[in-house]
Amino acid sequence: MNTATVTRPGLEPLVSGVSRIVARGLDARDTAFAVADLLRDNLPGPDLLTPAEREGSPDRYVTHILHAEDDFSVVAVVWRPGQGTPIHDHVSWCTFGIISGIEHETLYRDMGDHLVEIGRADNLPGEVSGFAPPGDIHKVLNTSSELGVSLHIYGADVAKLGGSVRRLYDLPVK
Ligand SMILES: [Fe+2]
Repeated sequence: MNTATVTRPGLEPLVSGVSRIVARGLDARDTAFAVADLLRDNLPGPDLLTPAEREGSPDRYVTHILHAEDDFSVVAVVWRPGQGTPIHDHVSWCTFGIISGIEHETLYRDMGDHLVEIGRADNLPGEVSGFAPPGDIHKVLNTSSELGVSLHIYGADVAKLGGSVRRLYDLPVK
């Protein structure tokens, strides 16, 4: 896929900007932070998604891969109120921005046979964050009473990999 195929409202400046950042060959953490600066200035609105996509699903949160190439992907996530992820980490750096709803994030440290909670954050509309593995074990929950829509940019081709998750954790939290 190349930028000529990017037809979603507001997505093209983001895709061409991420392409330029990735081409600089920074380390993962600095790439995530540079992409966060870009996303902060270019966060698309809800019309990035079609009305049908913005319905979400009663069963679980839904992801839409909006753009994927060898070294990065742009994914929209739609969460109805109360929907969230299991505890997981990622295959690559990730930068995300909140378009609507609240992404309540709980962070964990892997102690081998159990996890320890090390932090919590409420990510609100307009807010952008970036991170890189290791140390990115978390779960995310839409704690607002509104539909949650967020945009996630990963430093990998998640279409080819089948997703952004490296590992799911079913260890006890102590
Ligand atoms: Fe995640």
